[in-house]
Amino acid sequence: PLVSMTDMLNKALEEKYAVGQFNINNLEWTQAILGAAEEEKSPVILGVSEGAARHMGGFNTVVKMVEGLLLDMSITVPVAIHLDHGSSFDKCKAALDAGFTSVMIDGSHHPIEENIEMTKKVVEYAHAKGASVEAEVGTVGGQEDDVIGGIQYADLNECVRIVKETGIDTLAPALGSVHGPYHGEPNLGFKEMEEIRDAVNLPLVLHGGTGIPTHDIQKSISLGTSKINVNTENQIAFARVVREVLAAKPDAYDPRTFIVPGRDAIKATVIGKIKEFGSSNKA
Ligand code: G3H
Ligand code: ZN
Repeated sequence: PLVSMTDMLNKALEEKYAVGQFNINNLEWTQAILGAAEEEKSPVILGVSEGAARHMGGFNTVVKMVEGLLLDMSITVPVAIHLDHGSSFDKCKAALDAGFTSVMIDGSHHPIEENIEMTKKVVEYAHAKGASVEAEVGTVGGQEDDVIGGIQYADLNECVRIVKETGIDTLAPALGSVHGPYHGEPNLGFKEMEEIRDAVNLPLVLHGGTGIPTHDIQKSISLGTSKINVNTENQIAFARVVREVLAAKPDAYDPRTFIVPGRDAIKATVIGKIKEFGSSNKA
């Protein structure tokens, strides 16, 4: 069933595992992720960036596609459709009006006062619809859809303020993670993570899940991280397999001959992440 993130993340925080947010790009991506979650009996969050939503036709198309697959695949595990890095109140509102069950309002590139103000407005609108809200403080490194930013660690006082003043359900404090592949080992701020967890008492989100070694994943979970976002790793897995198949069968033209193996590669990657995050059999 389609649900918000609230119950799944609170349960994850309590039982010390993380729910994966896996970003979708199209039908096959969505099939792969839902299939993996159902097989693992795991809750799952389908992340949809504004760019990916545009690519798929729009927020309504995304919701109807997911709803169709939940029925046709007989999905029983909890599923959230979540706007990833929402850039404005209007974008969050449009996603929620189309039926998204969760949104991230990413005001992290604005001064904290503005971030709090826009987040508060989104929380009021989303909560009235029973949807959940994620906010970000500090900035994740690397490339976000339309924004390229440097790393800026989340400030503890700003984290406390945004939680208290807006009523968000989950917080993404940027602590050294990066979107896309890491250049060298990631250097996550675990001390800060622990301080923020103790101060805000909410499930935390880790962006840039691709390329973070297992011991850092486990440590993050032990310090209150309850949601981990993964995107690039699935893209790499898909592209690698599609390239291999096309190289081996240069005359292939039926799209299913290369998309289906690509889809299988995404599914295998997601199953691996679900196991690593400890959310198997937590549906
Ligand atoms: O919001 C999406 C994620 O933070 C994805 O990061 O592409 O590095 O896995 P990633
Ligand atoms: Zn992110």
